[in-house]
Amino acid sequence: MQKILAKTEDMRAAINEEMKAVLQYDSVTTPDLFFGMNHYHMGWVDEQMQPVQVHAGKQIRPLLLLLTNQAAGGDWQQAVPAAAAIELLHNFSLIHDDIEDTSPTRRGRKTLWTIWGIEQAINAGDAMFAQAHLAMSRLLERGVPADITVQALRRFDETCLNLTHGQFNDMDFETRDNVTVDEYIEMITGKTAVLISLCTELGALIAGCNAPTVRHYAQFGLELGLAFQVKDDILGIWGDEAVIGKSASSDITTKKKTLPVLYGLSQSAELRRLYRQENTDGAFIAEAIRLLDESGAREYAIEKATTYSQSAQGHLEAAQPNGAAYTTLNELADFLLQRDF
Ligand code: IPE
Ligand code: IPE
Ligand code: MG
Ligand code: MG
Repeated sequence: MQKILAKTEDMRAAINEEMKAVLQYDSVTTPDLFFGMNHYHMGWVDEQMQPVQVHAGKQIRPLLLLLTNQAAGGDWQQAVPAAAAIELLHNFSLIHDDIEDTSPTRRGRKTLWTIWGIEQAINAGDAMFAQAHLAMSRLLERGVPADITVQALRRFDETCLNLTHGQFNDMDFETRDNVTVDEYIEMITGKTAVLISLCTELGALIAGCNAPTVRHYAQFGLELGLAFQVKDDILGIWGDEAVIGKSASSDITTKKKTLPVLYGLSQSAELRRLYRQENTDGAFIAEAIRLLDESGAREYAIEKATTYSQSAQGHLEAAQPNGAAYTTLNELADFLLQRDF
């Protein structure tokens, strides 16, 4: 990751400057909790609205967008509003997701709803959703043609609808015990992969690529997004909480139908019996992880993630990317699979 961070310093500075402008970080002079809640979520201020510098997410989506744009022959500066828009939409989804998943921690800090309550955290998320759209419309100010900007906005909303559908399924599956792997793939395609795919699609679209090339880039992002979510499922069970910055047991206690769990359930009658139990306290977690380990669920999930990642690679090559950005894109794709946070 360090290598990627060093190579993308300019891009990351531009993304963060753009997001700060859209979220009115510098222009809100008197502390205003309405804007402040989102400044807290982004890691710019603490609970008392005092400036801080903390880990504010990996920002892999906006980086993917700008690197794709550059590898496809674009001027990445033009695409910065789209990169900022997607990162803001991602953050909106996390604010609401943490309420929906009752998650107390995100990026090693308290979640918005645990500090300011569910009601106001919903408002903060809604504001971020609107601001994400405002961010996208700023493409016009960078000289991106109006028809491309409108197309980007339309794809943005279509993607958001898919994402919400995926989130709906994710929660619906908690109380179902007959979820199939195909249903799971459809669910993670919605909740995670379509947004990552939109990054590579818009990067190519703004670079002026033709339709077949845009499709290859979009497919690259989609498969990468699937690999990314399977890896996230693995970290959600076997990750180190101090490193991932969020709970490594809540997927188990809420009976999320993640890929390792689906595989474990298909292999172990004991795990199926355990998952019929109402009580999901400490003993439940330990026993579930033991049975998952025993069933080979981790290895199965790693293999699946690797297959998606390799397939992503094939689509990237088919898009015929160029230059140093292509190398960095490859490094980023590798990191998404190898990461431990
Ligand atoms: C977390 O995404 C939510 C998922 C879609 C798995 P990230 O792992 O990209 O979260 P941050 O932004 O780096 O915290
Ligand atoms: C990720 O949800 C998808 C969205 C937020 C849209 P998860 O619930 O799987 O991700 P984490 O583990 O909370 O980051
Ligand atoms: Mg969730
Ligand atoms: Mg969650």
